[in-house]
Amino acid sequence: MTKWVRAHTNIALIKYWGKENEELIIPKNNSLSLTLDAFYTDTRVTFDQSLVEDELILDGEKQPHSALGKVQTVLNSVREQAGITSPALVESINHVPTAAGLASSASGLAALAGAASQAAGLKLSQEELSKLARRGSGSASRSIYGGFAEWIKGTDDATSFAVPVDDANWDIGMLFIIVNDAVKEVSSRDGMKRTVETSAFYEGWLKTLDADLKAMKQAISEKNVESVGQIAERNALKMHATTLAANPPFTYWTAESMKAMDAVRALRKKGFTAYFTMDAGPNVKIVCKQSEMTGIKDFLLTHFEADQLIEARPGPGIHTLEQ
Ligand code: ADP
Ligand code: DP6
Ligand code: CO
Repeated sequence: MTKWVRAHTNIALIKYWGKENEELIIPKNNSLSLTLDAFYTDTRVTFDQSLVEDELILDGEKQPHSALGKVQTVLNSVREQAGITSPALVESINHVPTAAGLASSASGLAALAGAASQAAGLKLSQEELSKLARRGSGSASRSIYGGFAEWIKGTDDATSFAVPVDDANWDIGMLFIIVNDAVKEVSSRDGMKRTVETSAFYEGWLKTLDADLKAMKQAISEKNVESVGQIAERNALKMHATTLAANPPFTYWTAESMKAMDAVRALRKKGFTAYFTMDAGPNVKIVCKQSEMTGIKDFLLTHFEADQLIEARPGPGIHTLEQ
């Protein structure tokens, strides 16, 4: 019997936004993230000769064949490495809304990399697992590790993988403001492709990343939540600016996202350490101190419903569930 594998989502503080190589998923820049406890995926894989083709059952529902692209890239790599040809049954449960900008592809494809390699009898190192997860979805390369992780862009399949940076065992967390958990209109993959190919601002974005990354690593080493938040907020705003200059232009923001950003600015005026980041979706994540989360939540409850606010703390790396 194969085992369930759990991987947690991660939210980037320095964003990955664009591919150098689309097939291998080699990114344009290094990115750096925090893995979180609140959202995760559990996945189990069974290679079965009697199946006609690969199957994905997500949250109890059989997915159409057209939705299997990311999954099959990982399965094919595992089959090649293990020298097997069987189709696979993939069962997966997302404890995170799917395709809503809350990083389901990070936890989902990392859990798949772990479960599929284990089911095929491969004993992969963390680095090899990170490369395998990367083939499914770039951000998944970072969900192999708990705490902060950096995805080193590399130049080819062998050199592009994430490494752990800091266990985040200190006073930092993220508060999520969920403004919409429906499936987004522009997937991360399509959004970044359109941006790389058409955005007049893309070169400008790339030019600033080395400095952001260096400053972020310094802030993390000092456990300085204020600096981590400041750098993350600026980095996210720059990323979102690139989409406005794409052709056709687009944005992941909604009026509710703007309201959430305003609320974060108001929190700062009240003296809280609070900065926002956003991904390919309308939801807003607040970088803050765990010790201030209750106070921050109390303030936000005057603007948002309780079920829109989700507390997250640093989460663990990928692991097998014993049961
Ligand atoms: P998100 O912001 O949620 O990461 P993406 O557009 O990056 O959104 O990716 C969403 C896609 O990732 C889904 O449409 C699906 O193809 C894939 N995905 C999400 N969760 C899983 C899972 N548990 N197992 C396999 N594939 C998944
Ligand atoms: C904005 O990893 O979801 O969340 O590699 O095409 O599957 P693919 O995209 P994905 O992109 C994530 C983009 C982001 C920033 C980040 O997580 O670094
Ligand atoms: Co994603």
